[in-house]
Amino acid sequence: MDLADLLGIRWPLLQAPMAGVQGSRLALAVCEAGGLGALPAAALTPDALDAEVRRLRAATDRPWNLNFFCHAPPTSDAVREQAWRERLHTDYARFGIDATAIVAAPGRRPFDANALALVVAHRPAVVSFHFGLPAEALLAGVREAGCRVLGSATSVDEARWLQARGADAVIAQGWEAGGHRGHFLSDDLDVQADLATLLPQIVAAVDVPVIAAGGIADARDVAAAMALGAAGVQVGTAYLLCPEADTRAVHRQALREARATAVTNVFTGRPARGIVNHAMAAWGPLSADAPAFPLATAFSAPLREAAEPHGLDDYSLLWAGRRFPACEERPAAEVTEALAQGFRARP
Ligand SMILES: Cc1cc2nc3c(=O)[nH]c(=O)nc-3n(C[C@H](O)[C@H](O)[C@H](O)COP(=O)(O)O)c2cc1C
Repeated sequence: MDLADLLGIRWPLLQAPMAGVQGSRLALAVCEAGGLGALPAAALTPDALDAEVRRLRAATDRPWNLNFFCHAPPTSDAVREQAWRERLHTDYARFGIDATAIVAAPGRRPFDANALALVVAHRPAVVSFHFGLPAEALLAGVREAGCRVLGSATSVDEARWLQARGADAVIAQGWEAGGHRGHFLSDDLDVQADLATLLPQIVAAVDVPVIAAGGIADARDVAAAMALGAAGVQVGTAYLLCPEADTRAVHRQALREARATAVTNVFTGRPARGIVNHAMAAWGPLSADAPAFPLATAFSAPLREAAEPHGLDDYSLLWAGRRFPACEERPAAEVTEALAQGFRARP
């Protein structure tokens, strides 16, 4: 079955869930334009997520995707966290922040029994996961609710693992992608290839549809991914400047500038691609000392809150994929329609 039919959408085009920068407004606009809009759960409290789900449900009858992280919550490590406070000392001093008051807190939520209850109550057409899949008992509940299950793979091994556990389709996430690497079987960053290398390997290795993600920002990129065997595409960064996204002002400004991206773990504890700023350069971009995911989130948050009102993005999470220069400030429906031209161009 073709991916658009499997997911009940017009185009096999998925808006990437992007925790922290979008909610139901962007998801709705993409759904109405014929793609699969997504609501990311990881950065929301259960109440806020419930409210967003209700908003989206009330606004559309079209299918949408509810997305979760499924990391194992870490235990706090006081020695490591104190070392990290000391590492960031000059930056705290710059804004007069008392670092002793910062408590390591999980800034991102994993899929759990409460999240399953929300899924069962609202029965989204699609539930997608980043960082593997939840425990079998929880996953069985998602399937019983009638949802299609998607998962991100950064390697052939991960794609096979997802297929073996019953994923309906696999998202092949290339190295170019913005945001967190979805890896879960190996944390060796060299394992994740660029999309043009990874995609045909995964297509050859699994029988389920493969969705291409990472650096897809215009119709030519869509056509190229389809030519490499993708059943559809998932696009994140290209939607960041849309008026329906909640992308913060400093993030929007950085997306308009000619800057580099890098993969960093200093903001959350897990490697993610973003536009290079002061914190990434000074603390990393990769540091073995950063507290475990997602505990590191609490340590840069007060710096971000202090700096952003001055127009400084020095400590902000500027997640973006390598193709961010292609971002345009236009409505999500127009971005979706422009990307969909890449399907029309197919032979
Ligand atoms: C700002 C931002 C936030 C992201 N947050 C999530 C998320 O919450 N869940 C998820 O599964 N993927 C997340 N991703 C990764 C996307 O699923 C996808 O792999 C990526 O956007 C594709 O690459 P592109 O950004 O170049 O289009 C995020 C990506 C970005 C840019």
